Amino acid sequence: MSEQRQRVFSGIQPSGSTHLGNYLGALRNWERLQHNMDSVYCIVDLHALTLPKAPGEVVEGTMNMTRMLMAIGIDPALSILFTQSHVHQHAELGWLMQCVTGYGELRRMTQFKDKSDRLGGVSESDADEATSGNNASISAGLFTYPALQAADILLYDTDVVPVGDDQRQHIELTRDLANRMNSRYGEGTVVVPDHQIPAAGARVMNLQYPEQKMSKSVGSDAGTINVLDDPKAIEKKVRRAVTDNDGEVRFDVQEKPGVSNLLSILAACTGDDPEKLAEKYTQYGPLKADTAAAVIAELTPIQERYRAISDSDVAATLAVGAEKATAVAAPVMQRIRTAIGLVSPTP
Ligand code: AMP
Ligand code: TRP
Repeated sequence: MSEQRQRVFSGIQPSGSTHLGNYLGALRNWERLQHNMDSVYCIVDLHALTLPKAPGEVVEGTMNMTRMLMAIGIDPALSILFTQSHVHQHAELGWLMQCVTGYGELRRMTQFKDKSDRLGGVSESDADEATSGNNASISAGLFTYPALQAADILLYDTDVVPVGDDQRQHIELTRDLANRMNSRYGEGTVVVPDHQIPAAGARVMNLQYPEQKMSKSVGSDAGTINVLDDPKAIEKKVRRAVTDNDGEVRFDVQEKPGVSNLLSILAACTGDDPEKLAEKYTQYGPLKADTAAAVIAELTPIQERYRAISDSDVAATLAVGAEKATAVAAPVMQRIRTAIGLVSPTP
């Protein structure tokens, strides 16, 4: 790999099914970037543990997510594809990053607020809640998660982080923390990364609740298109997508969130502009039919490849990925340990 190539890093949790938002917001770009960037893609199993998981769930989720990324076209010959817990430096740098992250910075993170609200919300006042109720089920890891995410990124001297719009705040925090590391421990301690958020598909909304983003964990199944949904299910979900009563096809996210979401999905699949596409339609029916057809055309080849990948291919890919990822992360970790001033384990 030539020295000029930029390094790309991104991650995805191995929980729930991969949906159209993941694909259009992030994964499709991962595939594109691997052709001219030095790409590292991580299945973040340690992050998945921030919400309760039964033993076995993470194993299955990790295998399925690896298979999904391979089916989308992440090629282990072009990219490093691995699982976070196989490279212990993530946990190590994760702790060190917690020590440079402010409590106040973490409290501002909207993903923590959303996820903890779904568990019943954080109580600041009631001491009894410390060991029972919501405060006991909301893990400390869910709160400090962005420090581990920053560690994931900084361990690979990452230049660019391709993500959907919901991760913007976490990447901005990572930049702040990287600058703080450099001013505290010396320029060049870490590389300051940038996010890359796509123009179309950065925020795919739930088809039933178009004010909410499409998500693995919230919203109805009827509002979420999974990458593995069969064509009939996709047609049905799109046909039933919530629109509005005025019957006008116009791209206006505030006033017409449902119709605008369909236009954005269609635009992301066809490479067109959502405002221009709106001019082609006078009724919702044809817009829905074309959107469903475009999504099916995009997802069918992925589904075929998914079914063809064996468990042993998945396991072999992760083993090679762990080795390659460690080869990049270990020297970066050593550099950071030295800069911070930890005693070296070797004399
Ligand atoms: P997650 O499923 O939270 O692990 O997210 C994996 C990637 O998908 C991240 O880059 C997210 O920003 C992206 N993503 C998740 N949901 C959406 C959505 N509804 N629209 C666009 N991108 C999304
Ligand atoms: N927090 C991201 C999400 O919920 C997943 C993630 C973990 C990630 N580590 C990362 C994304 C590093 C980009 C870079 O989607």
